[in-house]
Amino acid sequence: MIILGIETSCDETAISIIEAEGNKNSLSFRLLGSAVNSQIEIHKKYGGVFPTLAKREHDKNLPIVLEEVLNESGIKNRESNKIKGIDLIVVTVGPGLEPALWTGINFAKELGKKWGVKVIGVNHMEGHIASVLLTQNQKSEVRSQNIKFPALALLISGGHTELIFMKDWHNKKKIGETQDDAVGEAFDKVARMLDLPYPGGPEISKLAEKARKERVAQEKKFPRPMIHSKDYNFSFSGLKTSVLYYIKDLIAKEKDNTDLPSNQIFLEKKMKNDTKKDLSKLSEKQKKEIAKEFEDSVIEILLSKTERAIQEFSPKSLIVGGGVTANKLIREKFLNLETKYPDLKVYIPEKSLSTDNATMITMAGYLNYINKERELELVANGNLDI
Ligand code: KG4
Ligand code: ZN
Repeated sequence: MIILGIETSCDETAISIIEAEGNKNSLSFRLLGSAVNSQIEIHKKYGGVFPTLAKREHDKNLPIVLEEVLNESGIKNRESNKIKGIDLIVVTVGPGLEPALWTGINFAKELGKKWGVKVIGVNHMEGHIASVLLTQNQKSEVRSQNIKFPALALLISGGHTELIFMKDWHNKKKIGETQDDAVGEAFDKVARMLDLPYPGGPEISKLAEKARKERVAQEKKFPRPMIHSKDYNFSFSGLKTSVLYYIKDLIAKEKDNTDLPSNQIFLEKKMKNDTKKDLSKLSEKQKKEIAKEFEDSVIEILLSKTERAIQEFSPKSLIVGGGVTANKLIREKFLNLETKYPDLKVYIPEKSLSTDNATMITMAGYLNYINKERELELVANGNLDI
């Protein structure tokens, strides 16, 4: 069957069309067309995503992106302008920014009515899990992973950090999650402290890589919050605050002014308003050191918790999904787990499927479709759980 998927949960307007076949034990997907319109440049000046602006941009971009994907996939007959062959429309209904989600849902409903096609809702995080199903984000590639169960999924994105135990595609249980900031959010906030543009993940990762290549000496070791807790939960807010205090100390030393107030709210505000001037005092070397130490700390926490879950649940597969899997070192470290656990197969999405896209939504939508109970209603839910 041919499925059109729509994703507008955050700052990417994305549409994909795939051909899907098979049941939960043997899946096959062929990508027919895909486009992602990123709003990063628009949100950059606010240092993060601005919801009403995101909604406006989705509204503006959806028809343009649709046209592009319909043409690319050959679904639209060039002469008659008729749409033929779409069997199902799927759309992200949560979690995410509700005004942004509604634009996608309303657009999907209108298309459904116009084409006489069924529309079902998809959970964005299930999309991140399904993102590993297509090994190459290339048109006409039929390559689907046949994942063995039980599986463990570590989801690391801008809004979520969670560990999921999966008996099969349809039976999932969250075993742990972040108690405060998500990993991607921590990357973005630390980047802001270092005066780096949004989204901060790729920027921090570039600096950290430079630090490793140049062997920048490490003066500071940041904490690994909750690394020894006997559960599968995470916490990244304390780590972020340690980075903040370390920067404050460096700046104070630089200024030779030791009586800076140590009130955190004041400091956060100060970091925002007064940053350009103060942060310019951090040298490139200091920024690299902070980026590397922060990244090391995050990776150590993620690996440690995941390994404990591997030892307890003995999964046959580990799926690592979400925008933060675009991180080079994270990919490397998690793939290395296959050497340490020879019975484990590790799946990480191809890089263009790591960050938000609609291809992963179409695949998750197909999985919902073949298990009717999982079809979600067409109502935006910003906090939708897995
Ligand atoms: O999954 P995603 O595209 O959107 C959400 O569902 O949240 O994830 C976006 C997050 C951002 O926080 C971004 O900074 C982070 O993924 N990210 C990275 C990298 N590329 C994107 N974090 C670390 N290293 C990267 N290379
Ligand atoms: Zn996402």
